Amino acid sequence: MAILVTGGAGYIGSHTCVELLNKGEEVIIVDNFSNSSPDVIKKIGQITGKSVTVYSDDILSEAALHNIFTAHKISAVVHFAGLKAVGESVRVPMDYYYNNVSGTLCLCRVMAAHGCKKMAFSSSATVYGAGTGGPFREDDAVSAINPYGMTKVMIERILTDIAAADPKWGIALLRYFNPIGAHPSGLLGEDPTGIPNNLVPYIAQVASGKLARVQVYGDDYETPDGTGVRDYLHVSDLAAGHIKALEYVENHPGAEAVNLGTGTGYSVLEVLAAYEKACGKKLPYVIAPRREGDTAVCCADPAKAKRLLGWEAAIGLDEMCRDSWNYAKKLQKG
Ligand code: NAD
Ligand code: WQD
Repeated sequence: MAILVTGGAGYIGSHTCVELLNKGEEVIIVDNFSNSSPDVIKKIGQITGKSVTVYSDDILSEAALHNIFTAHKISAVVHFAGLKAVGESVRVPMDYYYNNVSGTLCLCRVMAAHGCKKMAFSSSATVYGAGTGGPFREDDAVSAINPYGMTKVMIERILTDIAAADPKWGIALLRYFNPIGAHPSGLLGEDPTGIPNNLVPYIAQVASGKLARVQVYGDDYETPDGTGVRDYLHVSDLAAGHIKALEYVENHPGAEAVNLGTGTGYSVLEVLAAYEKACGKKLPYVIAPRREGDTAVCCADPAKAKRLLGWEAAIGLDEMCRDSWNYAKKLQKG
C-alpha cells in the first residue's frame, strides 16, 4: 500500500515525503509544479536513498487522479496541493476557490470511488480569522479574513460533512501555525519566487544580500516589544506531525481539527535576532506601517495534538533559523 502526497514537491510536502520514506512507506507524489521544481524529487531521493513515483498532474483532473488510483493501491492521502499566497488570493479569488476547493472535491470524489477514505489535510491557523490572538483551541470559532483563508474554512467544512455522512472516512484537519526552517541537509527548504511575503524567507534574502533590509510591519502592537508575535515551528516537526496524523485517522472515523504549533510565540524582532545569531551578522531593518489584515498575536494551544496524536514540536527557534540559513546559503552559492 502506498501514500499519495498531493503537492509533495512543495515546501511542506517535500519534508513530509522524506519522513514517510524514512518510515518505510511507499510514496506517490502528484504535483503540477505550479509552485515547485522537479529538482526537489531528486533531493528527496538524495536524502533518503529511496525513490518516489511522481505524476506531473493537476488534482483538478479527475481522469489523471483515476489513473493514479488505478495504477497503485493507495491507503491514504496527505493533501497539500493548494495555492497559499494571501495577497494574491485577494486579487484572483476565483483561481483560489477553483484550485483549492474544487481541487479538493475532485480528489475526494476519486478517493471515494477507489475506496480510499483516509486523509491528512493542510489547513491553517488562518481559520481562526481575526481572532483574539490565542492561544487558539480547535473548538474556537472559525472565520476568514481573505479568500485564501475562506478556502481553508470551506474545505474543512466539506471534509467534515463528508466524514459525517460515511464513517469509513477518517480525516485530520491539520491547522499549521507558522512553519519555517529547512531540512538540516540544506537540500530542501522554502524558495519563493519573487519577493517573499513571509517573514523568515524575507529575512533569509536580506541575510543573503538579495534584499537590502527587513521591513518590520508595525511596532505599535500590544505585544512586549510592539511587533507581531507568531507561533513558529520547524518544518521537520510539522512533517512528523503528518505521520502521527495518518496513524490516527487509520483507526478513528470522522474529521478532527488539530493545531500543529509549539504554543510559544516570538516577535518579529526576536526572530530577527535569532536569525542574526544563525548567520553571524547584523541584519538591517526599518519599521514600516502595519500590514493590512495582520493581527498582533497568533499562537496555538497545542494540547490536542499531544493528547490525540502523541505529537509535540521539539525543535527550537535557534535551530529553525540555523536550518533556514543553511539552506539559504546553499541557494546563494547556486
Ligand atoms: P507550496 O506552494 O510549497 O506547496 C504546494 C504544492 O502544491 C506545490 O508544489 C504546487 O506546485 C502544488 N499544487 C498547487 N496546486 C496544485 C494542483 N491544482 N494540482 C497539483 N499540484 C498543485 O506550499 P506549502 O508551504 O508547502 O504549503 C502546503 C499546504 O499547506 C498548502 O495547502 C498551504 O495552504 C498549507 N499551509 C501552508 C502554510 C505555510 O506557511 N507554508 C501554513 C498553513 C497552511
Ligand atoms: C509573520 C509576522 C508580520 C513579513 C501567513 C499567512 C497564514 C499562514 C502562514 C498559510 C507578522 C511580520 C512579515 C515581513 C514583517 N499561511 N512580517 N515583515 O502573516 O503570520 O501568516 O503565513 O496558511 O495564513 O497569513 O506570517 O511570515 O507573513 O508574518 O514584519 O516582511 O512577521 O507582520 O507579524 P503570517 P508572515
